[in-house]
Amino acid sequence: MKCLLRIVLTVAALLFIFIIFIYSGIYNISAMVSHNRVTLKLISFLTDNSIKHYSENITVPNLTDSFLIETGFAHYKEMCVDCHGAPGIQPDEIGRGLYPGPPELARSIKDWTSSQLFWITKNGIKMTGMPSFGKTHKDDKIWAIVAFIKKLPGMTKEQYMAYDKSVKEKDED
Ligand code: HEC
Repeated sequence: MKCLLRIVLTVAALLFIFIIFIYSGIYNISAMVSHNRVTLKLISFLTDNSIKHYSENITVPNLTDSFLIETGFAHYKEMCVDCHGAPGIQPDEIGRGLYPGPPELARSIKDWTSSQLFWITKNGIKMTGMPSFGKTHKDDKIWAIVAFIKKLPGMTKEQYMAYDKSVKEKDED
């Protein structure tokens, strides 16, 4: 009985300290200051698990069609490059000011499967600057974006610019 009382009192004391901490405003919410390591690990663990869980049953269509990839490029240039940058292109002021910062996709996407990339692009990620494009775009457009971003690893600036040229030429036809 004494042991149980001790546990209850300890839990109550910890809860009290936690509530004081929340009310005090000590936690610095500034986007210029990084989270501490424990918070960072917790958020990234939760994010990774959530993305894996919700993208489990998504079937991937054929992503190798060159028209699909070019369509994806046009959307990437319009909606993603300002935050994520591209080969030879830095993110703009908004992208650079965000915390957590938008990762350079050419490096980071190797950690994700096509279904997971689709889920992230469609749903966005809560409490980060990553928007959901599923509210404004149909699935086929989102798959086109995924088809393009999967080409980013190893892409040179010249190859990126070549997509731009090719899309512009087709627009003019
Ligand atoms: C307003 C800024 C912004 C825009 C625009 C944006 N993103 Fe993001 N994106 C982010 C941020 C911030 C993160 C990091 C989220 C995190 O740390 O959990 C992110 C994360 C991602 C990730 C996960 C990468 C990883 O390795 O964790 C993918 C994939 C992604 N974005 C794709 C896209 C695509 C595709 C577009 C365009 C259709 C896009 N984003 C547009 C801000 C943006």
